Amino acid sequence: MTAARGPAEANGLVQARGPAEANGPGEANGPAEANGPAEANGPAETYGLVQARGLVRSFGQTPALRGASVSVAAGEILAIMGPSGSGKSTLLHCLAGILTPDEGEVWFAGRRVDTMGEAERSALRRERFGFVFQFGQLVPELTAEENVALPLLLDGMRRAAALTEARAWFGRLGLDGRERHRSGELSGGEAQRVALARGLVAHPEVLFADEPTGSLDSMTGEHVMNLLTAAARDHGTTVILVTHEPRVAAYADREVVVRDGKVGSLAPDPLVTSPGLGS
Ligand SMILES: Nc1ncnc2c1ncn2[C@@H]1O[C@H](COP(=O)(O)OP(=O)(O)OP(=O)(O)O)[C@@H](O)[C@H]1O
Ligand SMILES: [Mg+2]
Repeated sequence: MTAARGPAEANGLVQARGPAEANGPGEANGPAEANGPAEANGPAETYGLVQARGLVRSFGQTPALRGASVSVAAGEILAIMGPSGSGKSTLLHCLAGILTPDEGEVWFAGRRVDTMGEAERSALRRERFGFVFQFGQLVPELTAEENVALPLLLDGMRRAAALTEARAWFGRLGLDGRERHRSGELSGGEAQRVALARGLVAHPEVLFADEPTGSLDSMTGEHVMNLLTAAARDHGTTVILVTHEPRVAAYADREVVVRDGKVGSLAPDPLVTSPGLGS
């Protein structure tokens, strides 16, 4: 009953859209070459803003990814589920250009990410991506509001303006009064919401969020997911979200499941399923 994922996967790397790609003939390294005439099922839905193909990644002797492929459309909210240790965080980090796969390809907006140098990848992360890491990773020396403002400061915004934007998130996330706390002075759930605000504050094109509600009670989790999805829809942000919780995954447009380092879908995946197959 699994959706056909065979040859259709081969044309997953579709030329990306949007003005960012309209950078003239210099854009010779796009994935268009990979498609050829096989790209017959080319409605807009088959575009993938973020794509991974055949990712393999091990840590020493431990295989984390064993041929993981996934394609995420612009503006889509994708939930990645799966058992602990199945490779979800590793996949997310590869998609976000934080980790480099041993094998396979990662593409963002028509650009190959996994072969970029570190400087180019870090510019991409800084300018176009937002992250919420599984384990917070707030900067302990900074206050909560400075942590939230960080992406704006790194982007060159003046401190006063960046802090004003950062502070606006505290009320929205039920964090009033926590602005000046350092990460050691926040509860786990508060730190997680600060991390979420930091991920969203610069309106990234893609938000990568690893268990963004893992430390939250169900009421707060729902509030945070409402906020996250509203922010994403308002700004056309693509969201790739790892979660254990079906309740959280329900906010996504689509779910995939990682098992043993490979990606499967719960429902037929419009991005990788050939039309006509399975009927
Ligand atoms: N830095 C690392 N060093 C060694 N092994 C690692 C490292 N990171 C991940 N692994 C291993 O790779 C596999 C996949 O880990 P990953 O963190 O991607 O799983 P996960 O699906 O995110 O799990 P969880 O739901 O528990 O967060 C696991 O077996 C893990 O032990
Ligand atoms: Mg994880």
